[in-house]
Amino acid sequence: MSRPPLILLAHPQRAHSRINAEMAQAAQAAGFNVRDLYALYPDYLIDVPAEQSALAAADLVVWLHPIHWYGMPPLMKLWLDEVFSFGWAYGPGGQALQGKHLWLATTTGGPESSYAPGGYNRHFFDAFLPPYEQTAALAGMQFLPPLVLHGAHRAPADAVQAHVDVWVQRLQTWPDWPELADIDTPLCEVPADARPQE
Ligand SMILES: Cc1cc2nc3c(=O)[nH]c(=O)nc-3n(C[C@H](O)[C@H](O)[C@H](O)COP(=O)(O)O)c2cc1C
Repeated sequence: MSRPPLILLAHPQRAHSRINAEMAQAAQAAGFNVRDLYALYPDYLIDVPAEQSALAAADLVVWLHPIHWYGMPPLMKLWLDEVFSFGWAYGPGGQALQGKHLWLATTTGGPESSYAPGGYNRHFFDAFLPPYEQTAALAGMQFLPPLVLHGAHRAPADAVQAHVDVWVQRLQTWPDWPELADIDTPLCEVPADARPQE
């Protein structure tokens, strides 16, 4: 029996969200707890010990957010800066997240065709993922294949529903995902002298 996932929602305007809000709601309706970062920290004052405790209690960490400027929204980034700290998430003694899984569930405004050479986003969407993958690797986490809905503004209702169904079904079936057997976590050890002494 696995422990419940930690689902972190980061949407600066949840009231105007078409997809992420629906995904959060569907997860909650299926019995999963969703930690809505913008609701918890409207002042951007993150309770780091509370976030680290929530992480410690989960084996699957899910980041649910729209893509903003080819990456994560600002509060998600601040959460990462403050919560994945040196000596806790990485570096000497930083083993708190070792072996956990990190799953990115995200949406883009740009359609899939825009994420290709010749499209207006010029690169395949995978080209924007290395910062996520390497963040996971540095913390000793396994980065699971992301769930992405492109063209979020114009996706037809049946495609949105199918996406939400897959999202809930994946949450319900983790960790029994066939592809997990083929994923390795590279070992990235930061040496003790990587930082000047404080
Ligand atoms: C500040 C900002 C930056 C954005 N940057 C991108 C981007 O880099 N690439 C992209 O495809 N869409 C971008 N978008 C569009 C969002 O990804 C899109 O609104 C979101 O995925 C829709 O999900 P929602 O219905 O849950 O709000 C951006 C939107 C905002 C507000």
